[in-house]
Amino acid sequence: MSIENQLLKWYLINKRDLPWRQNKDPYSVWISEIILQQTRISQGTQYYNNFMKRFPNIEKLSISKESEVLKVWQGLGYYNRAINLHKTSKEIFNNLKGIFPSRYEDLIKLKGIGDYTASAISSICFDEYNPVVDGNVLRFLARYYGIRDPIDSKKTQNRVKEIGKKLIDKTDSPGDFNQAMMEFGALICTPFPDCNSCVLSSKCEALNKNEVEKLPVKLRKKKIKERFLHYIVLIDTKNNTIVEKRFEKDIWFKLNQFPLIETNFKVDDIMRVSSFKKFINSQKITIKSNKYSRYNVKHILSHQILHITFHKFKTEKAISSGVKLSQLSHYNFPVPINNFINKKLF
Ligand code: ADE
Repeated sequence: MSIENQLLKWYLINKRDLPWRQNKDPYSVWISEIILQQTRISQGTQYYNNFMKRFPNIEKLSISKESEVLKVWQGLGYYNRAINLHKTSKEIFNNLKGIFPSRYEDLIKLKGIGDYTASAISSICFDEYNPVVDGNVLRFLARYYGIRDPIDSKKTQNRVKEIGKKLIDKTDSPGDFNQAMMEFGALICTPFPDCNSCVLSSKCEALNKNEVEKLPVKLRKKKIKERFLHYIVLIDTKNNTIVEKRFEKDIWFKLNQFPLIETNFKVDDIMRVSSFKKFINSQKITIKSNKYSRYNVKHILSHQILHITFHKFKTEKAISSGVKLSQLSHYNFPVPINNFINKKLF
């Protein structure tokens, strides 16, 4: 049996029963594919269900506020995905009469929809023959065809896409075929696979050449960056504190935070850091050591280790346009700040 038929057969028997597979509605497939781009299915499914409950269709999403969408996204990371979902829902509802584009060429023009998502939606919902190439597919096909070129190069990705195109064209079910490839990579041809239970093992080039552990090859090793974030939690006698919105695009774009000072190194005494002194001067306050305490937490993101310190200060001076501590739960904060607030550590 050909590889594409074997994959399809395997998929029909083994596919996971996932909520977005209940029908071919492009809205739900779009939401699921955006969530799954950087998130495992186990975590993503819960977020998908919450998202669909809150925004069941394109109209509901388009008429909601960006902050409401971010609230449902809280904890999922890569918040630009939510911002783009919201923007694109407005574009479809207001300018495309609420009709989801069906063709790859039209889908890829939308904000937040790239080759992967356009291929997934157009094949799963509209039977177009566009192969998807995600990390799981790259790993699986690199092993099966013994591709020794680095899979994080565009050239190899294009080569894999051409292979995918040849395979998908031989099927009569492009949406199922694409999902079969992704599912096979996710469940069988995993980073540490059990090749004995693989239905494709007899023709797998990597297995036959004893190279399963060597493939796929990657050019760039993941670089992990360490960062030192100091949040200043200033609390006045009426329990007001300062909350601001973050606009830096590196992490947590458009989420809220306490005033932040970042250093390139571990700091023992924040009072010696000049940007901190500037902040205190700008607030026209003085700090008494018996009104100060701190709380440390380490937070790990996919490419960063964040050493976070919350510096807590009590001040006699009233904070104008501050936020009441009891109101903090109405704001969108990233996970480590949210944990700090929920545990009432201020
Ligand atoms: N990963 C991302 N999207 C997927 C899908 N539709 N099926 C299987 N795995 C996926």
